[in-house]
Amino acid sequence: MRMILLGAPGAGKGTQAGFITKKFGIPQISTGDMLRAAVKAESPLGLQVKNVMETGGLVSDDIIIGLIKERIAQDDCANGFLFDGFPRTIPQAEALRDAGIEIDHVIEIAVDDEEIVGRIAGRRMHPASGRTYHIEHNPPKVAGKDDETGEDLIQRDDDKEETVRHRLSIYHSQTKPLIAFYQELSAVNGTPKYSTIEGVGTVEEITAQVLAALN
Ligand code: AP5
Ligand code: ZN
Repeated sequence: MRMILLGAPGAGKGTQAGFITKKFGIPQISTGDMLRAAVKAESPLGLQVKNVMETGGLVSDDIIIGLIKERIAQDDCANGFLFDGFPRTIPQAEALRDAGIEIDHVIEIAVDDEEIVGRIAGRRMHPASGRTYHIEHNPPKVAGKDDETGEDLIQRDDDKEETVRHRLSIYHSQTKPLIAFYQELSAVNGTPKYSTIEGVGTVEEITAQVLAALN
């Protein structure tokens, strides 16, 4: 199964990706997590993308497409994968299509902008795994600590309100056109299957809807 989770920043892609990948035994491929790991490691890629990420801009399509091609060639992707945060522009989706990589299912998680600003303000993250919590809606068992490792949780550098609003405006101008792109592809070819989930409700409610769409 090859899936794409599509949705605005803070829509809950990372949160739901955790459940889906466990259930289907496929890896989660989050370009955001991969780039944050590179920034943390201060690798050449990390140094190149640090500023763009902190200010909430998009990393260039060439860099992203290169990263993805390298990642999906790895053994653990043989039975499929879940893209979280990729593709994010029409050229990225076209690169995927032109490389002959067929997607079985696109799941769009739809959440409005004001809800998103509140969610992101309360987000906390375990940097090593990318596991995500919310101080009210999805709290860790022990405040400030990751459930599985007990390590400290942090706030992402790009989660300041002003930066979130900038990320949202980029989502509307550059990523939203992918909705029509995949809906058209789905209508013409019958694949990928396209499902829209209303992303407001508890984490468990959204998971149930996502799993129902996948069955
Ligand atoms: P990335 O890491 O992909 O960030 P994003 O798309 O902006 O999405 P987020 O991770 O902010 O949100 P999410 O949908 O995963 O929500 P989450 O589950 O955490 O990208 C970061 C940056 O990297 C980009 O800005 C760009 O610079 C670069 N980049 C990455 N990919 C790129 C690409 N392909 N091309 C170019 N540049 C790229 O949930 C959010 C919060 O809400 C959490 O606190 C969570 O606990 C809470 N929550 C989740 N579900 C619910 C619920 N149902 N109710 C209440 N709260 C909830
Ligand atoms: Zn995420």
